[in-house]
Amino acid sequence: MQYRRLGSSGLQLSALSFGAWVTFGSQIGRDESRNLVAAAWDNGVNFFDNAEGYAKGRAEQVMGDVIADLRLPRDGFVVSSKVFFGSAEDPAPTQRGLSRKHVTDACHAALKRLRVEYLDLYYCHRPDPETPISETVLAMDTLVRQGKVLYWGTSEWSGAQIAEAVAFARANHLYAPTMEQPQYNLLHRQRVEQEYAPLYADAGLGTTIWSPLASGLLTGKYNDGIATDSRLGQPSLEWLQTAVLGEPAADRLGKVRRFSALAAELGESPAQLAIAWCLRNPNVSSVILGASRVSQLEENLRALDVLERVDAQDWQRIEAIFG
Ligand SMILES: NC(=O)c1ccc[n+]([C@@H]2O[C@H](COP(=O)([O-])OP(=O)(O)OC[C@H]3O[C@@H](n4cnc5c(N)ncnc54)[C@H](OP(=O)(O)O)[C@@H]3O)[C@@H](O)[C@H]2O)c1
Repeated sequence: MQYRRLGSSGLQLSALSFGAWVTFGSQIGRDESRNLVAAAWDNGVNFFDNAEGYAKGRAEQVMGDVIADLRLPRDGFVVSSKVFFGSAEDPAPTQRGLSRKHVTDACHAALKRLRVEYLDLYYCHRPDPETPISETVLAMDTLVRQGKVLYWGTSEWSGAQIAEAVAFARANHLYAPTMEQPQYNLLHRQRVEQEYAPLYADAGLGTTIWSPLASGLLTGKYNDGIATDSRLGQPSLEWLQTAVLGEPAADRLGKVRRFSALAAELGESPAQLAIAWCLRNPNVSSVILGASRVSQLEENLRALDVLERVDAQDWQRIEAIFG
């Protein structure tokens, strides 16, 4: 495993980390979840990602249970939560968003579910147009000073919104956001590479990026259809199928088919190649992997080896497919 600093902070995250979205508390059972966390840990993963909204809080419950069961040392792992979507079945106005109230309540609930005394990382899962950014920065600063959160950040905020939060924090001697959690993969790169560019140097922003495989699309598993035991085959995730495959005119599948053929020519697994491509970006602090079974995770964790095998010319050929 390789470890990278989270932006300009002193926290070292494993370059490959592991998240619970869609899988924990819904798609997979408790035993498979335990096996996945154990496999990740045994391979040097030290960061486990979660959110209040994942399976309405059940993903955090399962992760907390499994981490306790595996007796992972608290000073050896990093665990996150995110606030915004709420964990209630039908959230009341005070049970979602980024108000001081919900940011505080959601933190307390995540601590209980994850069975920890502090969250290492706590993200604002989306921007909240109904709450001033200053209120959220102040709420996060309070949680940091109370020792309930170590580093706070954002997820899918615009560059301008992050810059506003940083400026308000600096002007008032408050803790500023340390990291952003954006989507980043071969099919989705503008924000990480262009929009956030000034924030890496100016604000020391780190990034923990999500969906490195575009929900599995970049493995090539959807090249010839959608299997019922795959993520996009789940009836409850019909919206995701549209988002991932795109409109017919988007030709995302066509690009992935060409990418799969190139991977075969290079003798590489498309999944490993796509994850390695994310790792090549020095502004990526950690690539958050998702997996529904241990064999997938074990394959994906070997992506770091690809960096030693693929040369600049072949990376250019890959870029040309998606360009
Ligand atoms: N902040 C946010 O808004 C946000 C949003 C999304 C995700 N995230 C975080 O990022 C993490 C990773 O995102 P993601 O799960 O979308 O990552 P991903 O790597 O794009 O997709 C993971 C899924 O692809 C399939 N897969 C993975 N490796 C495979 C392999 N080698 N062969 C075949 N299929 C494979 C599995 O689904 P199937 O087996 O079911 O097909 C797996 O669950 C999440 O768990 C979450 O922690 C954050």
